[in-house]
Amino acid sequence: STTAIIVVAAGSGTRLGAGAPKALVDIDGRTVLRHALDGVFAAAPMQVVVVAPAGFEQAAADALLDADRDRGRRASVVVGGETRQESVAAGLAALHPEIEVVLVHDAARALTPASQIDAVAGAVNSEVGVIPALPVVDTLKQVSGGEVVGPVDRSLLAAAQTPQGFPRQPLLAAYERAARAGDEHTDDAALFAAAGGTVRSIPGSERAFKITTPADLEHARMLVGGPMP
Ligand code: CTP
Ligand code: MG
Repeated sequence: STTAIIVVAAGSGTRLGAGAPKALVDIDGRTVLRHALDGVFAAAPMQVVVVAPAGFEQAAADALLDADRDRGRRASVVVGGETRQESVAAGLAALHPEIEVVLVHDAARALTPASQIDAVAGAVNSEVGVIPALPVVDTLKQVSGGEVVGPVDRSLLAAAQTPQGFPRQPLLAAYERAARAGDEHTDDAALFAAAGGTVRSIPGSERAFKITTPADLEHARMLVGGPMP
């Protein structure tokens, strides 16, 4: 396969506040990272690069070995950086030379269905990047200094998920450009677009929500069906 997936797991999980890196927090006997990798290994074969928190490379390698039952994938672990963008850049440096399509995926979206990974990979081509996204369900307001300033037309908005997929060379060029300029972007699609790239959106899924807060972790535990702590 000429597709690779970079699973970024190097964050500290400040908002979760679990006392350990978020990727290593348990959901029903498996770590967040392991759940994410179970989705990755249920998708079509592709190179897998796990970006681990410094000092937790072995835990990440163990999760990779446990998820990779038939050892059928090219897979490796690299250490992440201070920001998500730096962590993705570390993963990009580990791509096999033949890779043409790169998916970037948050380990924190631990329950992302394999079908979403396959759908993104299938929609990327040499011209466009692809993100999965969901319609926004909340009623949104523009607020300034505690005052409601105006309505927001939510039909124009979508909530971005991962994996986000891109053609390799333009993505690498966009990352080099952002690093040179010192620009920080909120996600890979924004970074890719800032370099002039076109990004399309395909339907995301509710199971691909990001585990950010303790309530999200509770929700994930409920979906997996394990006992509540
Ligand atoms: N991530 C990363 N390297 C960083 C920061 C984030 O690899 N320096 C990864 C996280 O591990 C996560 C994904 O990017 O899988 C999305 O980030 P987020 O949900 O913000 O995770 P954290 O940064 O760990 O959480 P927080 O912002 O609450 O500290
Ligand atoms: Mg973060």
